[in-house]
Amino acid sequence: MCGIVGYTGKQKAAPLILEGLKRLEYRGYDSAGVAVPAGDHFNVAKKTGRVANLETIAARHKLLGHCGIGHTRWATHGGVTDANAHPHVSSDGKIALIHNGVIENFTSVKKFLLEKGFTFQSETDTEALCNLVAYHYAKEAMVEGDSRLLESVRKTLRHIEGTYGIVVLSLDMPDELVCARKGSPLILGIGDGENLVASDVSALVSRTQNVVYLKDGELARLTPDSFSLSTINEGEIEAVIDTVTWSITDAEMGAYAHFMEKEIFEQPLALENTMRGRFSEDGSTALFGGLNLSAAEFRQIDRFMFCACGTAWHACLVTEHLIERFARVPVEVDYASEFRYRNAPLHPNTLFFFMSQSGETIDTLAALREAKRKGFRVLAVNNVVGSTIARETDGGIYQHVGPEIGVASTKAFTSQLLIGAMMALYIGRMRDMSFSDGAAYVAALKGAPDLVRTVLQQAPHIRKIAERFSTYTDMLFLGRLSLFPIALEGALKLKEISYLHAEGYPAAEMKHGPIALISERCPSVFFVTKGEMFPKVVSSMQEVKARKGLIIAICTEGLELPDGLADELIVIPDCHEAVLPIVATIPVQLLSYYIAVNRGCDVDKPRNLAKSVTVE
Ligand code: F6R
Repeated sequence: MCGIVGYTGKQKAAPLILEGLKRLEYRGYDSAGVAVPAGDHFNVAKKTGRVANLETIAARHKLLGHCGIGHTRWATHGGVTDANAHPHVSSDGKIALIHNGVIENFTSVKKFLLEKGFTFQSETDTEALCNLVAYHYAKEAMVEGDSRLLESVRKTLRHIEGTYGIVVLSLDMPDELVCARKGSPLILGIGDGENLVASDVSALVSRTQNVVYLKDGELARLTPDSFSLSTINEGEIEAVIDTVTWSITDAEMGAYAHFMEKEIFEQPLALENTMRGRFSEDGSTALFGGLNLSAAEFRQIDRFMFCACGTAWHACLVTEHLIERFARVPVEVDYASEFRYRNAPLHPNTLFFFMSQSGETIDTLAALREAKRKGFRVLAVNNVVGSTIARETDGGIYQHVGPEIGVASTKAFTSQLLIGAMMALYIGRMRDMSFSDGAAYVAALKGAPDLVRTVLQQAPHIRKIAERFSTYTDMLFLGRLSLFPIALEGALKLKEISYLHAEGYPAAEMKHGPIALISERCPSVFFVTKGEMFPKVVSSMQEVKARKGLIIAICTEGLELPDGLADELIVIPDCHEAVLPIVATIPVQLLSYYIAVNRGCDVDKPRNLAKSVTVE
């Protein structure tokens, strides 16, 4: 959840680290800090609050070195204080360290270190890790030159239980960084006369596009002109250098007020990128290059199981609906955090999919490992190339929507919906879906970006509706079938960025309890579509109206609602069932965004949240 940056090279380290931290702030943002070696001590600046606060105090410190480390924190052990912010310096003053993750045996490590005379300034588990490196570093005094810090870190990690991405500095080797990972992402940036390390590619791409994705159990040693990789238990290993396909402008806000706004409006392009090159030549089915499963093998699957968290879990629910509807294969969806402990009985011929934008969500990763341990084939849907989940699966589908920086997921969600729809088509065409139905389905998916564009054009209208509802404290989101998960997503978006209380339900479930909330102070957002659900949803709306509840209706075009039933109306295009969830998502994203802006909320960095949840 925290952001990590390290730099060694010819430039002044601190300004580059601060720039990198700003790009990582979306990963965690309760405090930030930077450290550079300065002769016989480390120069450390750290401060609670945003990176902007750190920048102000960093200017007062003399952060002049050409090598350094920086961190943005999302608190786990210990409150949000300056003392608990990273970097931490060992009590003998020799080692500085930043850490993302949780050290599970920190109590016993701390006890050991206290007995050895080390002292502690913070309540963090990280400081125990830092002092333990210093303890081993002192013991490794006989190790000559280059490998002393590396060997100390290696020895330390053999005694550590838990998860970590760490970067370590020593005073004796002021241009050397040693880093290691287990469970928390770390990426090396290989530059020209400079090398970097970060927890996220976005902090590196302004300096280099050549990267090395560290794997669990690996350590790296970086100097300005060299880098080497080894494992915790063994010696050196060879590094594979990858090239990042996006540039720094993809991670910039441009003319938009927030990343979330940019990412909402980017969705037509994101959808085009997700489906590019993924339809058969005859235009009747989808193609997925990376599944590593032949059509014959795929055809044999009896059941699909989808695991994910948060917004990605909502995308799985829509996918369940579409696969069951169009391919007639049973699908189960589970929260990854529940699946990993539930020990559910599983049909032997089940294929697993793990959906995760970041590919780093620890619960999703743990669920994947659990399914793999049980001998199942596991596939993933990820946006971040080279992420841990992407690397640990047997195959998968990349979303190709570019970096998603806003903490509230938007373009990654609609792209996941699109991939779910394409999977339903792919599986359906292997079974009973006809050529002409497949061709109509493909044509509908290809038209989705333009339909999204037409809904985005209604932004000024939705903004006005948001003005009316910004002062309310509760809201219900109600939809049926494939739009029930969109109701959940609408409620989640509103909750997380505007701090309004919101809940999503299948519209008919409202009368089994949530109806007690309805009053003139609790408005409801209804998704209204044609077909057999239309009269049912209208009845639910009448029940709300009878209790003086205000209604925002998101309604497909061509439907006539009874007079006065909707207090506000947002008309969306009538479209293919596979595209409808994507199109219906746009109004609730815009509604939440404008309500949050009206309420003065920090849209891109909502309180208590972090973009990828890498702790349990
Ligand atoms: C909400 C949101 C989260 C994520 C969840 C899973 O807007 O972004 O609910 O969807 O933390 O993240 P990924 O998809 O990275 O596994």
